[in-house]
Order: sequence, then C-alpha cells, then structure tokens
Amino acid sequence: MCGIVGYVGKKPVVDILLDGLEQLEYRGYDSSGIALKCADSIKVYKAEGKLKNLREELAPHAYELTKATTGIGHIRWATHGAPTVLNAHPHTCNCGNLTVVHNGIIENYKELKEELEAKGCTFRSQTDTETVAHLVASIYGQVKDLTKAVHLASEKIQGAYALCIMHNNEPNKIVVTKRNAPLIVGYGENEFYVASDIPAFIKHTKRAVYLSDNQVATLTPDSIVLEDEHGNKLEPKVELLPWEPIALSKMGYKHFMLKEIHEQPDVIRNILVGKLHTPEDPIVLDEVKLTRETLKNLNRIQIIACGTSLHAAMIGKYIIENFCGIPVDVEASSEYIYRKTVTDEHTLVIGVSQSGETADTLTAIKQSKAKGSHILIITNRPDSAMAREADSLIPVSAGIEVSVAATKSYIAQLTSFYLLALYMAEIKGTMAQSDLTALKAEMMLLPQKIEQILAHKEDIQKCARKYSGTRDFIYIARGINYPTALEGALKLKEISYINATGYSAGELKHGPIAMLDETMPVLSILMKGSVYEKLLSNSEEAKARNARMIALTNSTDEKLDDLFDFIIRVPDVIELLSPIVAMIPLQLIAYYIAEFLGKDVDQPRNLAKSVTVE
Ligand code: G6P
Repeated sequence: MCGIVGYVGKKPVVDILLDGLEQLEYRGYDSSGIALKCADSIKVYKAEGKLKNLREELAPHAYELTKATTGIGHIRWATHGAPTVLNAHPHTCNCGNLTVVHNGIIENYKELKEELEAKGCTFRSQTDTETVAHLVASIYGQVKDLTKAVHLASEKIQGAYALCIMHNNEPNKIVVTKRNAPLIVGYGENEFYVASDIPAFIKHTKRAVYLSDNQVATLTPDSIVLEDEHGNKLEPKVELLPWEPIALSKMGYKHFMLKEIHEQPDVIRNILVGKLHTPEDPIVLDEVKLTRETLKNLNRIQIIACGTSLHAAMIGKYIIENFCGIPVDVEASSEYIYRKTVTDEHTLVIGVSQSGETADTLTAIKQSKAKGSHILIITNRPDSAMAREADSLIPVSAGIEVSVAATKSYIAQLTSFYLLALYMAEIKGTMAQSDLTALKAEMMLLPQKIEQILAHKEDIQKCARKYSGTRDFIYIARGINYPTALEGALKLKEISYINATGYSAGELKHGPIAMLDETMPVLSILMKGSVYEKLLSNSEEAKARNARMIALTNSTDEKLDDLFDFIIRVPDVIELLSPIVAMIPLQLIAYYIAEFLGKDVDQPRNLAKSVTVE
C-alpha cells in the first residue's frame, strides 16, 4: 500500500503530482507529501491526514512552485511510525540533497539504520523508508551517480519496495526501482510519469511499461534507461493500457459505497453476459485454460485470499465441493505463505483478490506456481501483478470500486465462483441436468432480487438506526451462509468501528453465548434450506439469554415474529444461491449504521483498498 507518483518533463509538476495522488488515495490516506526540484534545492512539503491537507499546505506557495517540472509524491498508509508529518514521505538524507518516496517495507531497516548511524547519519523519523534516503545518499557520496547508487543500495535492502528517488545534483531526473511492489512508468511526449498504479497518470498517457522486480529505470524528460539488477541495458516493453480515464463520480449518492451497492444487479448481469445464455445451455468459461481432461481428473483445489476475498473463497469452497465433489482447502494467504504447504502440479490453486495486488496473496500464488500448480486468478484488476501470474484469469469486471469496503467486487467474486463451479460440474458430470438447469435459471433472476431488496432499503435503514447505538454486534449463520456472517460482521467493523463478530451458530453455545445479554444484538441469517431449523433453535438459545434478536430471512413463517425483535425479509431464493441475496442487506446495515454515526464511510480509518505489504 501507500501510493507513489513521479513526473519528469516540461510541465508544472505540482498539480500532476497532487492529481495523481488523489487517484491513489485508495492505497492509504494517513499522510501525504511531495518533493519538487526547484532552482537550487529540493523542496519538500508534507501534511498529516488526507490529501486535502497537503493541498492547503501548498496553497500559499502555489505561484512560486509553478516553475518546478520534476517531482515525486507519496500518499501513506502507516506501517513503521505513527501517521505524523515527521513520518510522512518524501524522506531526505541529512543534507537534503537526496529525497525518496517508498511503497513497501524495508525488512532489514534496523541493521541498516545502525550502520548508517555509525557513519554519522541522523534519523528524524521512525520510518523504515528513511534508511533508504541515508543509504542511497551515502553510496552516492562515493559513486557520484544516482543510478549506480540505487543499484548498489538495492543489493543491501531486504523486503518489498517501490522507490522513486531524486538528487539535487542531478536535476530533471528520477531513478526508480521495485521489488515485490507495483511500479509503472507512463510515456508522454518529452516526459515520463511513474506511479504505483495506472489511475495516477492515465489521463495523461496510455503508453506504459510495467517494471519487473529489481529493474532500475532512470527517467529524464527525453529518455528512459532501463537496466536489470546487474546494470545491463534492457529494451522497455511498452504496452498500450486498456484503460480510459474515469471520472469517478458518486452519481448523486452520498457515498461511493452506497453507489457501489446499487451497482450490484448490473455487475451480475455484466458477468453473466456471454457465459450464461439460457438455463439449458452449458456455461461458457473460455478463461479457464485447463483442458477438459485435466478438469475431469482434478481432485484437489486450494483457494487463497485475504479479507473479503477470503469470505468469497469460503463460499467458493462450499459450492465447488457441493457441485463438483472436489475437495477444496481455503486459507488466508498470510498463513499459507509461512508454513509447509502441500501443493503440486495436480492441484488447482485459485487466488482471489479484488485488487490483484495484495502482497500476501501474490506471494502465496508465486509459491504454489513454483511448485507446478495451475494458477487461476479471480480478480477485478486484469492488469494487476496477480493477473500476470495467472495461467487462467477470470476478470470479475465489477468496474472500479472506490469505497475501501468491498461490496460489488465481493458479489462479483461470488458470481464468478458460481460460474466456475457450474462449469466444472458440467464437465465432470457431477450434477443432475435438472439441478443444473434450475440453478442457472435462479442465477439469472439474482439481479432482479437484489433490485427488490434495494427498493425496500428504508426498512434496512430503520434496522440500522435502531441498533446503531450498540458497542458490539453478533452475526450468526450456518452452512453456506457462515461466511456471509463473517463478511457481514467485517463490513460493520470496517466502516463503523463497532466490535462485530460472525459465528457459526452451532458454535455459539461453545463460548460466545457467555457474552449474550439484553444489550447484545444477534443477527441471524436465517435462509430456508438444510440448516434452517437448526439455526432457528440456535436463535432460540440466544433469545433465551435476552439478546436483541434480528432475523435476515426469506421465510414468511409467522412464528418468527415472536422470536425476533426485527425482521428483514428478502426475496425467496434457493439455499445454494442465498449468500448473494443475503449479503445485500448486510452491506446496507453496515452502511447506514456508519453513516448514522457520522463515520468516514468511503475511507475508514486505518484501512486501505490495496494492501501491498505483508
Ligand atoms: C484490504 C481491503 C479489503 C480486502 C483485502 C483483500 O484489506 O480493505 O477490502 O478484502 O484488502 O484485498 P484483495 O484486493 O486481495 O481482495
């Protein structure tokens, strides 16, 4: 995470950097800063908090800064050191001649810091990044060449990084490098842009080069010199980005999150186009590059993901096992990468990630790829690092999701899992034709059902108001909707900061029930099907402890009126597809509670949309 942006060229750089950073705010918003090459020095401006604070900081200097045409900028998601001005990037060496912005984590920064302090460097921040400024500057003192100094410094740095570096003695130049963090160079006319993500410069150019790990690029207005880690010159591979500049607008909604929740019916429709024609036709999923023969014999799948994508993966497991009879393991990427995992060329490994950049998932994917597994990636970013590792790529096409809390990308991931599971079931012949047809027919009705829920969102708003004063919230469910309970709780935690937890309802009596009293709301995701009666009994158990009971249900059973204080009714849906329908009210509850509490819904504290640190 963190966003970095840089520019060398002939245009005034300040607005280019600020506009670029604004597009990267999804990567963090703890602080921001820019460094500009001015007449005889590099000037650095920083501010705590959101980018608007930096804009205010710069406003009095607007005129004098118009001459600067080379600069770097940063938007921070704090890892080492509190989100203060002192810890904000850019960081400089002691004489102020060298300045750096960094995305990632320098793992050996303590050792490097000790070495550098012994040489006389004085550290001003608590960041790992400041070591890079001192390290490159101290090497520069010997070699007097910024590109060489960056190469030599890279040999000493361990960890993940994308770096943009300027030196006062080498005006109109930025040297950039990366390892396990994204960095892209955009080509203009007598100018170059560099950024951690395309939106930062897409309105200026669509021609770009994705840097590979350990490459070093030296950018001046007229040239790019690209080198491998040994300093050998490389021919940059310029790609035409399949992107249009997007004017991100809330379209009249108060927040992006609410807009994105409302986009979900169309997201599903778009995904189904070309893949699910009629209930009778087989699913078309050309994105899956495994042969039919391999698919038929496939007997093991691993799914790795983080956060909301992990919850989609858990539902993916449920439906793949149910439809195809293939055993599926699901694991959080951050756990997967630090143990001895058993995977091989006979295992299909599925990585799920809305951003396609999550460091833990990317590492996990690379590890299983090295062991020979076929890698299938489900992502909302077909241009991402993860997508580039994929043997099979299923783009979920949810469109840009601005709000940090994932909503439409989750529903898109689920829809993709349904298509994948159905596709495999058809090839493997593991489902009766009548079941397949019924399921596909129901899938086609999902957008309408979501629209019905959205049309009655005022009821959900009422529920949110009623429970917005609570400190804690429990979501219970069983079976296929257990991950829905986890995701519902995660949504609430993320944007309202209420202590919300999802439990498998059967586990309630093994501990969590001790927390129940008349202050605790318990929301039961009570969808008709195999575990309905069981969940009803678990809800009775909670009611007997005086909990404030809420039902989210597709049942019209009148006896629920006695058991629950509040009932949110959703359109009828078959159990196997209920996670999609059930999730919509849970997103809305989280949204309305956060909105009612006056929280920063789209940019909740401490979070970022793309997490590129392990
Ligand atoms: C961050 C986001 C979450 C997301 C998680 C995994 O924490 O705030 O919304 O679920 O990363 O991200 P991914 O891009 O891999 O789905």
